[in-house]
Amino acid sequence: MAQTPVKVTVTGAAGQIGYALLFRIASGQLLGADVPVKLSLLEVPQAVKAAEGTAMELDDCAFPLLSGIEITDDPNVAFAGANVALLVGAMPRKAGMERGDLLEANGGIFGPQGKAINDNAADDIRVLVVGNPANTNALIAQQHAPDVPAERFTAMTRLDHNRALSQLAAKLQVPVTEIKKMTIWGNHSATQYPDLFHAEVGGKIAAEQVDEAWLRDTFIPTVAKRGAAIIEARGASSAASAANAAIDHVFDWVNGTEWTSAAIPSDGSYGVPEGIISSFPVASRGGRWEIIQGLEIDAFSRERIDASVRELVEERDAVRALGLI
Ligand code: NAD
Ligand code: LMR
Repeated sequence: MAQTPVKVTVTGAAGQIGYALLFRIASGQLLGADVPVKLSLLEVPQAVKAAEGTAMELDDCAFPLLSGIEITDDPNVAFAGANVALLVGAMPRKAGMERGDLLEANGGIFGPQGKAINDNAADDIRVLVVGNPANTNALIAQQHAPDVPAERFTAMTRLDHNRALSQLAAKLQVPVTEIKKMTIWGNHSATQYPDLFHAEVGGKIAAEQVDEAWLRDTFIPTVAKRGAAIIEARGASSAASAANAAIDHVFDWVNGTEWTSAAIPSDGSYGVPEGIISSFPVASRGGRWEIIQGLEIDAFSRERIDASVRELVEERDAVRALGLI
């Protein structure tokens, strides 16, 4: 019997990440080469026409796995029966905007979307927030979905993880496939902490194969500020690499992995306050993320994890003060 298609809802579908993402989902790269998908594209009313144009191009690819496309500006329609939700559409920071303004504008998007997911999505819904500030947007959405298990709300740090792999591979002149156990801790922001003290290259700790000055003064800031460097170079934020990371995140969540990085609700592990959506080293087993336990955290790493988590706590407190959660 033919398999029932998996419904994948993408918000901000007419944006640049949406354009890099939708064709890969429809080709089978999000869930597997044998899994049919149905796409639901959510946009603001003024961008629905552009989303329709993208849908025409999707049609023109004649993807064997794509069983249908719906386009809407109504979150209740977009998330009805959704199995996977990729929340990409967000309010970008504009000149003169304070952090609080950005959080407030995004609260107006992610609160209602969280509620629409709560009220309409399928029981197995999995949510990945890409739109920035991704961790706190995910927290806002999760807080508006009390009937959905909190663990189903995640935010994307896989792009940071992939950037860290690539920088280290270039430094050590090894293929990325030789690097294991890379970890991004904390927020998807410049405070994130890419950790080489647990990463391994050729079975040996990565931090022991590079000099400390490179690790501290080049590797960490290059990975943490890569998003800004791309904006500076391209005149627009990363799109294809962000879409690629979203594909990696969901594929591994559904199909399993022994070690990657994802921002998931903290259970208090490693001193990260419970409930905060923070990046951890994670495995995926049986379709669920699990935080990898038992890692020793030295003073160097502790200081940096704490700094990023402090920023997440401040963001949570700010959205609380604004009445957004
Ligand atoms: P974009 O401006 O090209 O597209 C965003 C789209 O979202 C637009 O089409 C807009 O109409 C739509 N949108 C806005 N509000 C919406 C709403 N309420 N419902 C549905 N759609 C809505 O931006 P982009 O380059 O595609 O980036 C999207 C987001 O992803 C940004 O917030 C960006 O900062 C973030 N991002 C995150 C990462 C990460 O690693 N987590 C990486 C790159 C970019
Ligand atoms: C990225 O990491 O590339 C983006 O989050 C940068 C941004 O601010 O959009």
